[in-house]
Amino acid sequence: RLLIIDFGSQVTQLIARRLRELNVYCEIHPYNRVDDGFLRDFAPKAVILSGGPDSVTRPGSPRAPEALWTFGVPVLGICYGQQTMMTQLGGLVESGHGTAEFGRAYVTPANDMLPILDGWFADGREQVWMSHGDHVSKIAPGFTVYGTSPNAPFAITADVSRNFYAVQFHPEVHHTPKGAKLYENFVRLAGFTGDWTMASYREDAIARIRAQVGDRKVICALSGGVDSSVAAILIHEAIGEQLTCVFVDHGLLRLNEAEEVVTMFREAYNLPLIHANESDLFLGALEGVSDPEVKRKTIGRLFIEVFDKHAKDIGGADFLAQGTLYPDVIESVSFSGGPSVTIKSHHNVGGLPEKMGMKLVEPLRELFKDEVRALGRELGLPEKFIRRHPFPGPGLAIRCPGEITREKLDILRRADAVYIDQIRKHGLYDEIWQAFAAILPMRTVGVMGDGRTYDFAVGLRAVTSVDGMTADYYPFTHEFLGETATRIINEVKGVNRVFYDVTSKPPGTIELE
Ligand code: XMP
Repeated sequence: RLLIIDFGSQVTQLIARRLRELNVYCEIHPYNRVDDGFLRDFAPKAVILSGGPDSVTRPGSPRAPEALWTFGVPVLGICYGQQTMMTQLGGLVESGHGTAEFGRAYVTPANDMLPILDGWFADGREQVWMSHGDHVSKIAPGFTVYGTSPNAPFAITADVSRNFYAVQFHPEVHHTPKGAKLYENFVRLAGFTGDWTMASYREDAIARIRAQVGDRKVICALSGGVDSSVAAILIHEAIGEQLTCVFVDHGLLRLNEAEEVVTMFREAYNLPLIHANESDLFLGALEGVSDPEVKRKTIGRLFIEVFDKHAKDIGGADFLAQGTLYPDVIESVSFSGGPSVTIKSHHNVGGLPEKMGMKLVEPLRELFKDEVRALGRELGLPEKFIRRHPFPGPGLAIRCPGEITREKLDILRRADAVYIDQIRKHGLYDEIWQAFAAILPMRTVGVMGDGRTYDFAVGLRAVTSVDGMTADYYPFTHEFLGETATRIINEVKGVNRVFYDVTSKPPGTIELE
């Protein structure tokens, strides 16, 4: 296995991702937990030193463990990792002097060709992505320069006899097009054969869950979304009946959703699952509520109450399982503590672990969404389920602006089902990040047959997005929109008008509330 020592770069996980694409197993550990002893115990076959925000010129700034330099395995230093390598091995790094470089740069070869640059410089130069304030002003003894850029004369250096490689740029990002090739050359040189797969991730994750949980009990809030589903199935595989899942049905789910989720998990996966049908409780508490934040907070509070009640019924649990993904981890680190404004109070099970004195089990913490999907496939989850669009915790409540009534929810469910059916029939489902219908808080006049109608209006939303943080509306054809509007009005009693939302995010948000 390969060890990545993390000096705090925003893109450290991308290194892991590039390596996983090469079927190489790696682990990321923060620099302040990697000392000489850790290194010996971990026994890596190769080490990568990540970038980081600090400056090696600052006294007390992070360093790699000294034992690394005599450990005898290939080491690749990236950006800050390169600079600490130079400093620790006798070179010099300086700050400022107008040699900072941010963004695209071109590296040209110097001296011989390095094995890790195999496949580079076909056009005599190579595009790379730089992001550094400090720069190396003198390379360490034993090192040779293999690539230079206008502002980084030591962009690529190496001490081939010791297998130390150092680059100033970030090979892990998209804007270094041959970056993946560099990692591939590095891991081949280190002797990795690329035999690590999702199947082996599954096995490792199961072993880690068993080691963490022992013979204690775990409880999981299963929403039916991909993340919590994959986490639950994996944990169930690891510890069987020590896991209990609670599916809280708040009466704000889509057409047939509760039955589908409960049936699949009980029958196909044999998961111990409590189906908490609490629609009366939630819809009762939401009666007369039209303020979006009050809706969200009410649902969040009741969710915790219901979950807590069922946890007590089974005699409590020591762990709470969550399908937290890597992007959630990064976001919460980089945005925490900042003076940010609450746009929406997102509903999740946060607050539960402290209240109930539980620890967290988060087996997906190192994965990106598409990797979770790959793991889901590995675990046999049906494709249709794996590709499902995201669905928010507060469910249809935030797609029903104004007061929520059972009548409106019923209309909304049926309109949404027709809309999604249309999207699937036209083969557009996988091109769209998220699509749903909303029921608007107004009635309008229409004419059907020879009669006057005075019915609800439905709004359709469909967006493309990479991460949900920004989004653009999906450009359906007019034919598609016309056909869908006609179907909804014909098939869903109570709707006589359909709008299509062409707002991007920002300024809109994806959901209506
Ligand atoms: P917005 O509406 O904030 O949505 O642009 C961005 C993404 O987040 C989802 N969303 C939620 N997901 N709990 C969730 O689990 C929530 O409270 C929540 N609110 C919004 C939304 O569906 C979209 O994918």
